[in-house]
Amino acid sequence: MRYLVLSDIHANLYALQAVLEHAQGRYDHTWYLGDVVGYGPHPNECIEILAGLHCLGVAGNHDWAVLGKLELDYFNVHASRVLVWTRAVLNPLHMRFLESLSERMVAEEDFTLVHGSPRYPIWEYVLNSVDATIALKHFSTRYCLLGHTHEPVIFQAPDTANVLCYEIPLCADSSARSLPGVSLIINPGSVGQPRDGDPRASYIILDCERRILEHFRVDYPIERTQEAMLALDFPKPLVYRLSLGR
Ligand SMILES: [Fe+2]
Repeated sequence: MRYLVLSDIHANLYALQAVLEHAQGRYDHTWYLGDVVGYGPHPNECIEILAGLHCLGVAGNHDWAVLGKLELDYFNVHASRVLVWTRAVLNPLHMRFLESLSERMVAEEDFTLVHGSPRYPIWEYVLNSVDATIALKHFSTRYCLLGHTHEPVIFQAPDTANVLCYEIPLCADSSARSLPGVSLIINPGSVGQPRDGDPRASYIILDCERRILEHFRVDYPIERTQEAMLALDFPKPLVYRLSLGR
């Protein structure tokens, strides 16, 4: 079975459409790692697409904030403003989609899915080898898939020569790699708001039988998303960061 793994779509419809078009025919099912809403101008449209994919998925911090499960005080002023708007425009059916998401799940026996970290799935960031080494103690499957940082990366469990996880950046296009038989933490990067300096949408495809991971970056019409954000008077820093991938 081949899985399309999407994280941090952040209501960026044009990025999501570009990813789905790019991945077409190369996956069987979809896994979603949280934050379909927040920051972006098309929350209803993005949830409708995700729901139509019948994906398995987990909740992100922005998803929870829209549901009122997290205080908006936890977010910066720009993020908070868009979350208030998102709450106001999201239709009840799509609210129920967010409510249906769990904090963590196990799929295909070997994969734990969370948004932030396996220790604190909604909020904690796994940003570096130290975080990843701590995170290793909090899942029992071989692999853990997570998002939240918006940076594509793999952390590999340490061997006898090292005490910390190895950090393996995912920066090349279409880089296919075999999954080794050791624990990994895998972050596919963000579809809708990349923060690794590359503004293109980021995603991975996992082939569970062949144990192959492929990472992709996809161009999308960033200016169309930005125009929609400006038309809604969204905070300018959120608009311009999409061009920078920061
Ligand atoms: Fe996010």
